[in-house]
Amino acid sequence: MESASKDTRGSFAAKKTPATPKGLLGIAVRAARAAGEIINRNFEDRDHITVQEKAKDDLVSNVDQECEIAIRKVIARYYPEHGVLAEESGYSQAGQDSDYLWVIDPIDGTANFLKGIPHVAVSIGIKIKGITSVGVVYDPIRNEMFTAAKGEGAILNNKKIRVSDLKTLDTGIFATAFPFRQRQHMEHYRKILTRVMDRCSDIRRAGAASLDLAYVAAGRMDGYFELCLKPWDFCAGELLVREAGGIITDFEGKPEYAKNGNIVAANPYIIQNLLREIKAA
Ligand code: IPD
Ligand code: CA
Ligand code: CA
Repeated sequence: MESASKDTRGSFAAKKTPATPKGLLGIAVRAARAAGEIINRNFEDRDHITVQEKAKDDLVSNVDQECEIAIRKVIARYYPEHGVLAEESGYSQAGQDSDYLWVIDPIDGTANFLKGIPHVAVSIGIKIKGITSVGVVYDPIRNEMFTAAKGEGAILNNKKIRVSDLKTLDTGIFATAFPFRQRQHMEHYRKILTRVMDRCSDIRRAGAASLDLAYVAAGRMDGYFELCLKPWDFCAGELLVREAGGIITDFEGKPEYAKNGNIVAANPYIIQNLLREIKAA
């Protein structure tokens, strides 16, 4: 799989890895591991981390930035012509024009990371001509690598994963998150939460959207709903859920989630029941 080789000047250059979903997936995994190493190294010793507030309740640390640089370096080495949209640095120059767009969250769950809560992920999705074709969500602390290539299914550490087969809401456990950065939606969200909680077994708010989606894909959670996500929060996880047999919609049950960032995910048996409660709120 190592594809670095000596070029004519005697230095190491990356051998062209085909830009097929499978080829891209290998490089995305490599990039996620590079960032994961940085996260793990810093997680144990957080005293030296520097933090800035991008906006209210939205923090960025030097570790988020280092992870993003490490990921971008891997992409630039293998696919210098590809576009990038990354949370901390935005669009690359080729970002809007290339057929390939890497959508990156270098640390999903920054607040968890800074508090020492061991629940964070590196999220890397790749869109080919606008269609999400590769997804990698890597939890470096548990060493769990969730991957998907379009049409090939979803995998956790070499094992195929599937969404749960629960058929009713009442025994289900659902992941969610409060709209803590858009508190104007809190009242509406509170109504949704009450309705869903009244009908299901329990609810979790773990703090990393990409892992919420990966856990739905793996059947650990029966569903998930969150308002106002950004593309880097859900690009990879969305493909994981779909490749694991799940359904994703927005809060209206429509496919507009990529535009409005409002995401509902669940298995095909219960998605309509979940949407019914959300829409009724
Ligand atoms: C956040 C986390 C959180 C979710 C927020 C995201 P960040 O990402 O995924 O769980 O509720 O919507 O923005 O800021 O830690 O990358
Ligand atoms: Ca995020
Ligand atoms: Ca982040």
